[in-house]
Amino acid sequence: MSDGLEDVVAADTVLSDVDGRAGRLIIRGHSLDELAGRVSFEQAARLLFDGFFEALPDDLAAALGAARVEVFAEVSALDTGLLDRTPIEAMRALTARLGDGDSFEVALRLLAAPAVFTAAVVRAQAGEAPVAPDAKLGHAADILRMLRGAPASRTEIEALDTYLVTVCDHGLNASTFAARVVASTRAGLTSAVLAGISALKGPLHGGAPGPIIDMLDAIGTPDNARTWIEAALARGDRLMGFGHRVYRVRDPRADALKAAVRRMGAGANIQPGRLAFAEAVEAAILSILKAHKPDRSLDTNVEFYTALLLESLAFPPSAFTCVFAMGRVAGWIAHAREQLAGGRLIRPASRYVGPVPKVAA
Ligand code: ACO
Repeated sequence: MSDGLEDVVAADTVLSDVDGRAGRLIIRGHSLDELAGRVSFEQAARLLFDGFFEALPDDLAAALGAARVEVFAEVSALDTGLLDRTPIEAMRALTARLGDGDSFEVALRLLAAPAVFTAAVVRAQAGEAPVAPDAKLGHAADILRMLRGAPASRTEIEALDTYLVTVCDHGLNASTFAARVVASTRAGLTSAVLAGISALKGPLHGGAPGPIIDMLDAIGTPDNARTWIEAALARGDRLMGFGHRVYRVRDPRADALKAAVRRMGAGANIQPGRLAFAEAVEAAILSILKAHKPDRSLDTNVEFYTALLLESLAFPPSAFTCVFAMGRVAGWIAHAREQLAGGRLIRPASRYVGPVPKVAA
């Protein structure tokens, strides 16, 4: 048995490939470098969905805009009980209000849902009224507008598009596997996406970037980095944003996102010197982890610069995982459809290690 199913191949997929030794990510025949910063989220979603639905509309951006408007109707169900929850719990609850099914219409509503619901939840938690979607805008532009109530700059929209494309799919990660397991039971795309959101939320998967901001704030200055990091490791803490099940080298998504933060430059919500400080903390962590775990190659993963990028776009850290879901939902839907098209029910075996009955049946 492989602990944590490490190296177990559980599906054939045409969607993406993660080469953990070369540090390379392929999404439907394209390297990450060909996509990140070069195509919009809608174009990446089209790439993932191609062949998994009968026909895709010529203008997927317009169809997704219309779906944002449609799902916005569910925002009226945001009550005080939900607003006391974390943004991802509230977003998940609103997503669960959408009907199940396997059609392209259901898929479009699910593609829109994390974006529309997260913006509304974040605003409501800050005491502000939700901003209705604008179907004419691109997805990234409308997310930032719905969040802030004002248009974002071109560089900010490009940075968010880069992020959403960078995280849209990544092999059989925990949330995608969860989505495929649910899809394999024929429960429907909404159920599969809800499973994906639930798996993503954990700190060992998509829940890491919020705590990275806490870590940077607690470290405060580069001089304090070594002492803080060594104390955290001595307590047995894991350093968020480092290590990966598959990558034994640097996660290629880290550099795609760092470049996007750099491109945003002074116009964004980033404090002067913040990127240089993060780089100093990253260097300190990498050198300490090397000495701490010489037998395990622990490098920077996608989440470290995700935290910087989403902070620069003025998302609250409590909602960072929701923004991850806005991108990864495209991959969950495509994997669910791929599973439906060819896969059997996923039902592995377990080995019983408990007590045996005293009397044989
Ligand atoms: N900080 C300190 N030690 C670490 C870290 C870390 N970030 N990551 C792994 N280790 C240590 C473990 O404690 C373990 O040591 P042990 O053998 O003495 O117990 C060893 O390295 C191997 O770790 P595993 O848990 O076996 O590695 P696994 O493949 O199961 O975990 C994971 C990968 C969950 C990402 C892990 O590296 C981690 O917890 N990182 C921090 C959380 C994080 O950044 N999550 C986001 C991941 S990216 C994504 O999902 C989108």
